[in-house]
Amino acid sequence: MKTKYLQLINPLKWVKASRLKKKDGQYDKSKSDLELNLYSKILKNDMLHYGYFEDPETPADTISIKDIEDAQVKYAQNIIDLITDKKGLILDVGCGMGGLSAILTEQKFKAEALTPNKNQIRHIQQKYPAIPVHNCKFEDVTETKIYKTVINSESFQYINLDKGLEKINAITEPGARWIITDYFRLHNDGINKSSHLYDEFIATIEKSNWKIVYQKDITPNILPMLRLLNLYVERFLFPIKNFGFEKLRYKQGFLYYLTQELREGIDGKIHKEVASIDPVKFENEKKYMIFALERK
Ligand SMILES: C[S@@+](CC[C@H](N)C(=O)[O-])C[C@H]1O[C@@H](n2cnc3c(N)ncnc32)[C@H](O)[C@@H]1O
Repeated sequence: MKTKYLQLINPLKWVKASRLKKKDGQYDKSKSDLELNLYSKILKNDMLHYGYFEDPETPADTISIKDIEDAQVKYAQNIIDLITDKKGLILDVGCGMGGLSAILTEQKFKAEALTPNKNQIRHIQQKYPAIPVHNCKFEDVTETKIYKTVINSESFQYINLDKGLEKINAITEPGARWIITDYFRLHNDGINKSSHLYDEFIATIEKSNWKIVYQKDITPNILPMLRLLNLYVERFLFPIKNFGFEKLRYKQGFLYYLTQELREGIDGKIHKEVASIDPVKFENEKKYMIFALERK
């Protein structure tokens, strides 16, 4: 038997593997989100959202990386246009790689950034040292400052509704503005359960001390990005993955046989991830909104 196969039955390797598995159990997604790390390596303008395409019919195969980055800047400007207190302190909650906070600072707003993600904090401290950063989940904020505007740019979906409201009340006063851009689920039966249920969100806000003063459904304007992601998955990711598996089957049949469950696991994971960027499913199951709320 070849030595590389013998490694698979080497007890020392199994002990090391089980130690790694234990470490995996300690993985906290909010502190080190692998998907977000991946996107941050692909897109270089420090924004991790779907962007805003003026023309919802933009064909996916004509979209360049520059077009994506332009759409992301446009999305950020949509948020900035909703800030009414131009001089007051702003908190960019779930700031990602700091792109929005950087544009705000460039435009002379006073912005602070918050994220539980350590890579993002490190990146912002290196690239934008002038931006104050808070390294924690929004739910764990202990800040005693008062913010005039709080922004959740595609980050509110990660935050528990009631806890989020409790915290936002602790760091704002009546008259404050809360800008939320995010997608919401229309019903509870889709494959992907990330994001808040739209009706639940509206009902919670109606019962709270906040009122919605502006809202816009921008689902059509983010769909070009989903169509593009889907195109990459169909034309590159799937063919490359299948090529890799087939190559393994022809070149290392034994290993191919041993890794059947692993390969099925990978297929299942890909199926779930791809469902979340399927533009047709998205349109049926979700709605992408821009909200501006005001504290009563
Ligand atoms: C999809 S990214 C959006 C990043 C950025 N706002 C943007 O628009 O480019 C989601 C952000 O929410 C952050 N996040 C995840 N859980 C959070 C939590 N509980 N509290 C605050 N931010 C959180 C992530 O670390 C990430 O920075």
